[in-house]
Amino acid sequence: MHKMDPIRNIKGTKDILPEEAKQWQEIQSAIQDFMELHGYGEIRTPAFELTQLFTRGVGEDTDIVSKEMYSWTDQGGSNLTLKPELTAPVVRAYIQHNLAAQSPVTRLYYFDSLFRRERPQKGRQRQFNQFGIEAFGSANPEQDAEVISIAYRIWGVFGIKDLTLKLNTIGSAEIRPVYLKILREALSKHKKDLCPTCQNRIDTNALRVFDCKNTACQQLLDEHAPMITDHVSDDDKIHFEQVQDYLKAMDIPFILDKKMVRGLDYYTRTTFEITSPVLGAQDSLCGGGRYDGLVEQLGGKPTPGIGFAAGIERLILALSAEEEIQEIPVADVYMVTLGEKAITQSFSLADDIRRETGLRVINETLRRSMKAQMREANRTGALYAVILGDLEIENQKAVVKNMEEGGQDEVSFSELSQFFFDAHSSNCACCNDHDHD
Ligand code: HAM
Repeated sequence: MHKMDPIRNIKGTKDILPEEAKQWQEIQSAIQDFMELHGYGEIRTPAFELTQLFTRGVGEDTDIVSKEMYSWTDQGGSNLTLKPELTAPVVRAYIQHNLAAQSPVTRLYYFDSLFRRERPQKGRQRQFNQFGIEAFGSANPEQDAEVISIAYRIWGVFGIKDLTLKLNTIGSAEIRPVYLKILREALSKHKKDLCPTCQNRIDTNALRVFDCKNTACQQLLDEHAPMITDHVSDDDKIHFEQVQDYLKAMDIPFILDKKMVRGLDYYTRTTFEITSPVLGAQDSLCGGGRYDGLVEQLGGKPTPGIGFAAGIERLILALSAEEEIQEIPVADVYMVTLGEKAITQSFSLADDIRRETGLRVINETLRRSMKAQMREANRTGALYAVILGDLEIENQKAVVKNMEEGGQDEVSFSELSQFFFDAHSSNCACCNDHDHD
């Protein structure tokens, strides 16, 4: 028998071995916790869909649909595609299961594998993974602010800093034909300087010229193209200003980027991206925006929607680029116990705090020294240590140490949950912008 050449994985795909898989599990679970803290429920959709879901949803002239899809005709003659993105499948499921009937606002999150036949490079694969959210039912700017704030704050869970949030509005659907006409006229004057693909795009879908990676095309846009943001309606402008006001009120910094139209056809009004300088050429950690026409376009009732998706491989690249390796926080409160009575008491106090505040609480189970337990509290990322010894049991009061600021308080057992409730809403990372969450 011939010795056969070993078969290798396909270019642009990757095996994840146990050690790295552990990191993936932790990332996935931190993301799930974060989404659930915001009232989002998980949705899982099939790996492949009818091709027309993407041609209709994402748009035939986009790079994703025209160049990058893995599509085939199966033995029964159906045209199928491995999903290249998740917004269209989630919208399909939202319509198919009539989720609108269950609540006026539907909040969904996902964690999944996607397929795009792009040129593989650092941070760009052919099978890659995303997490993301979609919120249906509210056209109000506070919904944009909610989604953008989740997209911005999630990186804090992983200690990823130095983010740039770019924001733009591309206006509602009504203004699009008027703007496209102006854009087409402007680009036609310089048609010969555009790449052949963009020359075609002038007639098929002129907005997609903004997606071109060719520097000559980008320069031409800078010099000669009217910007869509300058042609949106008054209502669109007010909507966009309110989004910005809410973000300012939440202390979320952003920059305006008039050229950012995003490479998928479904967007309306707000578009956004978050980039990190440590990623190199593929610097986009996540991207998203509003898509108020998509549900209707895919056969549902007119329903506004907004969401974003982030690349997990890019998250991991950003994590490994952080100088200090950040432990992922696993607890908010660590119960430091000294003596048998304290151990017994700590179980019920921990349960009360979890139930009444939603904070993550860990009990000491190794009966270590006070010093070792405080070190452990630090390692878990806990913001507070609740210290219980014989004296505390006798007085029915715990010592609560603030791990970040160093101060401590004496709090009676019956008021512990209220104490954390108050402290959490005024100090915590989910509510403000600390590193801990
Ligand atoms: P997207 O900008 O195509 O948007 O992808 C979102 C994120 O997925 C990117 O910012 C990047 O982190 C990651 N990503 C994309 N392609 C690759 C690749 N080939 N390799 C590795 N990572 C990649 C969407 O997919 C929209 N569905 C987002 C959305 C949700 N808009 C509204 N709701």
